[in-house]
Amino acid sequence: MLHLSTYVQFPVLYFKVGYQPKLRHFYTMLVATQLLKKYSNLTVVNEVSLHVAKSEIVSIVGPSGAGKSTLLHLLGALDKPDSGTVTIDGVNVFALPSKKQARFRNKHIGFVFQFHHLLPEFSAVENVAVPLWIAGAGKKEALQQAVEMLHTVGLGGRLENKPSEMSGGEQQRVAIARALINKPSIVMADEPTGNLDSANAQAIHELFLQLRDRFGHTFIMITHNEALANMTDRVMMMRDGRIEQEKVLKAVDNIKY
Ligand SMILES: Nc1ncnc2c1ncn2[C@@H]1O[C@H](COP(=O)(O)OP(=O)(O)OP(=O)(O)O)[C@@H](O)[C@H]1O
Ligand SMILES: [Mg+2]
Repeated sequence: MLHLSTYVQFPVLYFKVGYQPKLRHFYTMLVATQLLKKYSNLTVVNEVSLHVAKSEIVSIVGPSGAGKSTLLHLLGALDKPDSGTVTIDGVNVFALPSKKQARFRNKHIGFVFQFHHLLPEFSAVENVAVPLWIAGAGKKEALQQAVEMLHTVGLGGRLENKPSEMSGGEQQRVAIARALINKPSIVMADEPTGNLDSANAQAIHELFLQLRDRFGHTFIMITHNEALANMTDRVMMMRDGRIEQEKVLKAVDNIKY
């Protein structure tokens, strides 16, 4: 044990002995290694490797045909790569047998698409409850959770409305609530605001940021909107099947969660 006078006499030593690094809780949520996908002789995703930290919001931008959607489908295990691996929350997804892989996807990955694919005959709350029913939750319990989730995305007043009775922005919020209901490890969104006007698009992006700040969700999102991409933590620019460039707007260490 060093005597107090040692610290007084040797301030450098004090720094070394007394320094307590701040504990960080960041860890890698997704790792992709050398993903390759070809359609006949066209290489659409060309040996892409990337990592995403927990609670990070990453956007993928790039010209039409660059391979963005194909890459996202591989990352979300909606499609199988010709080679390469995807590990989500420590699980090597393509090493799982197909039934387990489907179960893993339903539980750990939330998807939001440009066209939200809501069920037209179902109310907002029923649409949001669907993934819970698939996962085996009881009807009452699932509806209760769906109501809470719709409140979270600001739709507490539209619970019983069908998709046709809601605006495009509201429908997209329902789709986001549905993507989040199973508390997924990661949310993947393919142009989630592509068919919304700029005010609604901005509101959806702000919602993603709020959800991350409140619950620590991780997002990978494709967008054509540069201004909205610039609201995310990191922008990956894709061209001809490769991540050509990357722009870090907020270092992972600075993501408060
Ligand atoms: N199932 C398929 N069969 C054959 N070619 C395909 C298939 N899916 C995608 N492609 C081709 O792969 C390339 C990349 O498609 P992808 O949908 O990933 O592009 P993208 O970057 O998402 O474009 P956009 O911005 O227009 O959505 C395109 O040339 C496309 O025609
Ligand atoms: Mg696409």
